[in-house]
Amino acid sequence: MTPAMSVDVAIRTRRSVRGFLAREVPRAELDEIFTLAQWAPSNCNVQLWRPHVVSGPALKRLCTALVDAARADQPLAPDWPADGKYHGIYRERQHDAAARLYGAMGVERKDIQARKDAYLRNQACFDAPHAVFMFMQQPFDAREATDLGIYAQTLMLALTARGIASCAQGALALYPPIVREHLGLGADERLMFGISFGYEDTGVPANAARVGRALIEEAVVFHRD
Ligand SMILES: Cc1cc2nc3c(=O)[nH]c(=O)nc-3n(C[C@H](O)[C@H](O)[C@H](O)COP(=O)(O)O)c2cc1C
Repeated sequence: MTPAMSVDVAIRTRRSVRGFLAREVPRAELDEIFTLAQWAPSNCNVQLWRPHVVSGPALKRLCTALVDAARADQPLAPDWPADGKYHGIYRERQHDAAARLYGAMGVERKDIQARKDAYLRNQACFDAPHAVFMFMQQPFDAREATDLGIYAQTLMLALTARGIASCAQGALALYPPIVREHLGLGADERLMFGISFGYEDTGVPANAARVGRALIEEAVVFHRD
């Protein structure tokens, strides 16, 4: 199926969805979407993204292992540190996004257990039927991470245009050894993030959350004369 959605509409329509139906995306459509995403640009056209698409029983097994690790408070071992670098306006935006999400879910800020349960939904891929885990091989680092980011948005827009929802998740990269073990990968494949995707379950309260964006005056600097 060739989607009719314009790029503008796809960009505006895409949002992070955190609750999915069990229905899988047909394999032929997955092939079409991932073929399209291959057209993302990259430094020197090296195309170094290594997406691993996990579905069905393999995803169930992996999510169970990730949820178990998080529930047991197993030490986090991300390939890139996920420490709090957000200050000032960035921290405010982070808090705003969290408040909107927890607000939609009816989770009180001081309710530690409810917040942990909400966090664990990440490790369960929000019940999505598919997740794609984004790897880069060693020694690639920050410069090449740009390519992964551009690839990821290209992929999410291709999904959106076909009515398929997604959520990029740094939380899926907190236990890389578990993911690597399940996918049969060596330690030189470093995990940056994952993206859960599938058809939105509109009945999930978290999916009512909406975040905004700053005006361009706060972000873009135009230089001319
Ligand atoms: C690289 C990346 C990592 C993210 N990690 C998470 C995550 O671990 N859990 C989550 O619920 N959302 C995560 N998000 C989603 C962001 O919270 C979301 O994109 C942001 O709040 C803007 O909302 P929108 O995607 O609905 O427009 C991530 C997004 C990106 C791009």
